[in-house]
Amino acid sequence: MTTITTKLDLARYLNTPLSIGNKTINNRMVLAPMAGLGHIALRELISEFGGFGLLFTGMCSARAVPQENPAVSNVFTWRTAELPFLVCQIFGSQPESMAAAARRIETEGFFGVDLNFGCSVAAICKKGCGAALLKTPDLAVEIVAAVRQAVSCPVFVKFRTGWENNPQFAADMAKRFEDAGADALTFHPRVAPDRRNRPPRWEIITRVKDAVSIPVFGNGNLFNIADGIKMMDQTACHGLSLGRMAVARPWIFAHWSKGMLPGDDIYHFTALRLTHLLSHHYEDRFAVKMFKKFAPYFCANFKFSQAILKKLIKADTMEGIRTNIDLLLKNSPETLITPNLTLFV
Ligand SMILES: Cc1cc2nc3c(=O)[nH]c(=O)nc-3n(C[C@H](O)[C@H](O)[C@H](O)COP(=O)(O)O)c2cc1C
Repeated sequence: MTTITTKLDLARYLNTPLSIGNKTINNRMVLAPMAGLGHIALRELISEFGGFGLLFTGMCSARAVPQENPAVSNVFTWRTAELPFLVCQIFGSQPESMAAAARRIETEGFFGVDLNFGCSVAAICKKGCGAALLKTPDLAVEIVAAVRQAVSCPVFVKFRTGWENNPQFAADMAKRFEDAGADALTFHPRVAPDRRNRPPRWEIITRVKDAVSIPVFGNGNLFNIADGIKMMDQTACHGLSLGRMAVARPWIFAHWSKGMLPGDDIYHFTALRLTHLLSHHYEDRFAVKMFKKFAPYFCANFKFSQAILKKLIKADTMEGIRTNIDLLLKNSPETLITPNLTLFV
């Protein structure tokens, strides 16, 4: 592993091919799974900017996936063009239903399947899914093994430190997931009750990475390019998984890995383009709802973020949103290098 201390080192490393199971990606920057944010329209926008290796869907219910109709579902839906680099994330608590969902995902032609062992939202954990599976480690490992048996495409596991701050537990779980057949891990170094309020402990990424021989993507609080350099240098992880910043700046992959320099009009362009993609994929009410979920992250880029956000989302139709975008963003408002994190809910 070479030392990474400059933007150029980072870009070079991010553009180094990486084998994941029986497939290879040519770029090590990936979009983290995000329910309600990483939808088909945002992914299309990110794809237009380029510069990433993989995109992940938000979590889909494993019980629903086998019968789900992509033509009507708002989550289990994709563009054919993105399938070669799209990973579908599922949540569930039963090995058989997770395996059945994985089979459908492979048949549809996704790059791979990702198992959600990290979500700490009460509604998910109450059903024994997401991060709750880190309280039943044997079952979590059984799920990985069942999914491995069901498919030949890459199997990813996304997980956290656990429910207590015990780095050894995370390292042991990583090894058990690898032994059960996982091809890659995304590790978010926080304990489950922490819902992004305390800083992630990147040093545990190193522990996890050192415990396995499969690729590990580091995740958590990558806000600016200096953070990317620091995480790579500190942890020597195999790739970077970006969540909220990819919503705030959908061009971030092209910026970090391809040296793309965004112009002053990038904010106006991006917001407007997203409205058109949302309107293309969804009916107006749902498109407005999705835009309003995106808006706080996007407005966090601006010095007067709260004021702009308030005015931007004051509309009930996409046409109204577009009018607001023209009024507020055409003359490039002042921006921040690191976004206003109070809007990163
Ligand atoms: C609104 C939102 C929805 C999320 N949904 C999921 C999800 O469906 N599956 C998952 O594994 N993680 C989910 N996450 C967690 C992210 O994948 C990621 O681990 C977290 O945001 C930390 O990375 P970041 O600092 O780059 O945002 C979600 C995060 C946010 C903010």
